[in-house]
Amino acid sequence: MAPKRKRASPVLEAERIVGKRVRGGAKEYLVKWQGCADAHNSWKLAEHVLDPELVAEFEARAAASDDARTDGDDGTVWPLSLARAERELAATLDRLIAALPADLRQPFAWRAAGLVATAEADARPPAVVAPRGAAAEELIEAIRQRLRTLVGPRAVAPDETFHFPAHLPDYAGYSAETVEHVDAFLYDEGELDELVDDGKLSRHYCGPNGPRDIRPLHLVSHSFSLPQLRLLFSKGALGDARGQTIVDVGSRLGAVLWAGAAYSSAARLVGVELSAHFARVQSRVVDSFRLGGRVQVVHADICDCAELLATADVVVLNNVFEFFHDRCAQAAIWARMRAMLGRRGTRLVTVPALSTSLANAGLDIVLDGWVRELPIAPPYPRQPSLEEATVAGSALHSEALAEQNEIFDQIHLYEVV
Ligand SMILES: C[S@@+](CC[C@H](N)C(=O)[O-])C[C@H]1O[C@@H](n2cnc3c(N)ncnc32)[C@H](O)[C@@H]1O
Repeated sequence: MAPKRKRASPVLEAERIVGKRVRGGAKEYLVKWQGCADAHNSWKLAEHVLDPELVAEFEARAAASDDARTDGDDGTVWPLSLARAERELAATLDRLIAALPADLRQPFAWRAAGLVATAEADARPPAVVAPRGAAAEELIEAIRQRLRTLVGPRAVAPDETFHFPAHLPDYAGYSAETVEHVDAFLYDEGELDELVDDGKLSRHYCGPNGPRDIRPLHLVSHSFSLPQLRLLFSKGALGDARGQTIVDVGSRLGAVLWAGAAYSSAARLVGVELSAHFARVQSRVVDSFRLGGRVQVVHADICDCAELLATADVVVLNNVFEFFHDRCAQAAIWARMRAMLGRRGTRLVTVPALSTSLANAGLDIVLDGWVRELPIAPPYPRQPSLEEATVAGSALHSEALAEQNEIFDQIHLYEVV
């Protein structure tokens, strides 16, 4: 990827169109500006939008009903497809059910308990064996493409709230204004550069001093990247997982489920997801790719899933609570997880280390007597760190190799003792 050109003095440029309305008989488009947060979007008369490609791209997207925003205010016109109407009705229903007192929610358990059928399901039997080699890579690539059209580059759900742990040194300065969500499963570094080059995503935001005060965004991914997932199902970590049950806590886009289906022989891959939106997205992929023989999606709070966790051979916990609950809620959830994850031999895959997540939640749970950490061998000879290379007088260290170590070093494997 060629290095980016730097602009000496930033000026406002339309990045894309995110809405349309009619005011006083005149058509207007809602413009997202390059390098500016959504809060700075503004309505422009159609004839003042100079780039016809942006208009054409918006109209095509709106007609396909993906990703176009529905503010629904004063005279806004939206092409609302049946699929979109169905999704919005389902989201409203889920919000109403969630707002009910717990004892009144029981009649709606059918919605919370399992797969949400979609019109894409067909009558063919679901796949029960893992594809191999090139077929596995093709499956993963096809799923990535499908997910990109379902969730867009940011992959953020309308029904979720983020809690940025800005009190932690690693996340100082993180806030809704300064963070951009970019999913590492959907976009690797090269593809991310392409998104930026194509003006679909920005690495910068407008500071408080206006359009010339442009600052770098913190890019955050909420999924494992493909190299991390390949490591997970390599000999050095979980291996083939033949016949095992793998539960991904907070399965979001389902990255662990798809990688497990493609790269392992696990018998059962279960994703538990709090967000109704993402549970539906995963269910659509399960149906589209007929993965229902091995993959199940459960829309639920993991705290209500003790029985499922008791059947798991492997439980995956990738940054699952950190960004999605305040510290008090995290402490309560981890205390519950400690109680539910007590079956000897169950393996836990965590990012970050368990001790880090527990400390971040303000908990003092002793790991000794609960779990022991197992080593994970990376799928290549481990490269020396800068310090190790310097001490040994070796020239082996490189930034790229250090980065490679880093993405694997984040993953920890434990066994319940
Ligand atoms: C960082 S994402 C993990 C993505 C995925 N496991 C992966 O590794 O690619 C965390 C997900 O956990 C979900 N989550 C948070 N708290 C949860 C809970 N109590 N029960 C179920 N899911 C939860 C969030 O909605 C979010 O989608």
